[in-house]
Amino acid sequence: MKEQLSEIRREIEEKIHTFDSSRSLYEFRKIFLDNKEGKISLLMKGLKDVPKEERPAVGKSINEVKEWALSLFEETDREIHKLELERKIASEAVDVTEPAVKTRRGGLHPNTLVQNELIDIFASMGFEIFEGSEIETDYYNFTALNTPEDHPARDMQDTFYLSPGFLLRTQTSAGQIHVMEKSRPPIKILSPGKVFRSDDDATHSPMFSQMEGLVVDRGISVCDLQGMLDLFSQKIFGQGVKTRLRPSYFPFTEPSVEVDVSCFECGGKGCKLCKGTGWIEVLGAGMVNRHVLENCGIDPEEYTGFAFGMGVERIAMLKYGINNIKTLFESDTRFAEQFAD
Ligand code: DAH
Repeated sequence: MKEQLSEIRREIEEKIHTFDSSRSLYEFRKIFLDNKEGKISLLMKGLKDVPKEERPAVGKSINEVKEWALSLFEETDREIHKLELERKIASEAVDVTEPAVKTRRGGLHPNTLVQNELIDIFASMGFEIFEGSEIETDYYNFTALNTPEDHPARDMQDTFYLSPGFLLRTQTSAGQIHVMEKSRPPIKILSPGKVFRSDDDATHSPMFSQMEGLVVDRGISVCDLQGMLDLFSQKIFGQGVKTRLRPSYFPFTEPSVEVDVSCFECGGKGCKLCKGTGWIEVLGAGMVNRHVLENCGIDPEEYTGFAFGMGVERIAMLKYGINNIKTLFESDTRFAEQFAD
């Protein structure tokens, strides 16, 4: 028995420092201390076969070896844990002086920037947002807007018809009708959205964005329209910018006007941007045609209103000096990056 105990001691001492993980040390520990199969546990179990008078002394020796082994394994395990932790810390070390890897930051598209700016300007004047749908019926896009059957705007070359009676809206003006059908004056809405036309060159795209405004109430006059336009132009193009109304024609307004702003590039002296005229055309507007009000059940004797519509890409192109509308749709990050703030 004594020999067996010394053998166990020797075996443990010989190998205990060769382990570098708690896991392998634990496996080694089991060889001696496993409750059922461990060499020391088996010796304990064999105690019953030892002559009675020797039993206390042998039992004591086994216990001593057991205590010794337990504390040695515990201490070694602590050391290994410490080493493991040190290894982990070393492997996860962060060099705080190392330059950071640069991440690319996204930014808003110039069209979105302008659209947001326009919405903010009109919202600050009390306009509510109405978003219509891109698929419209012929009635909302044309008929209710006083655009007769034989109007050239209905031509297949301009309008994308989906099926008889259904089309991709060619103007956000369609939103005016939806709003006036559903609500009564006072009405003050802004309707932003995409519109579609079969048109394609440096300044036209088959899909572009518009923003439509509509104000209907008692006593609304051209003066209200002009006042609002002055404020709007200065906010979007800068202080000192003036507006000018030129007679025009739209089926849904009477009178209709084309709105110019004084050139914010040259201050009105004449330059490339304003083609030497000192003025830049920015939007269409007018007093809501009485037939349009009637179509929506609003009495034109009691109420009047003004409406306006502008192309968002056009405003973005003017504001940022972009000369080809296509650059706004190409998703070229070298172009878009220039607008990131
Ligand atoms: N819908 C017109 C267009 O697409 C723009 C427009 C002009 C809207 C005059 C209006 C307006 O509300 O009064 O060209």
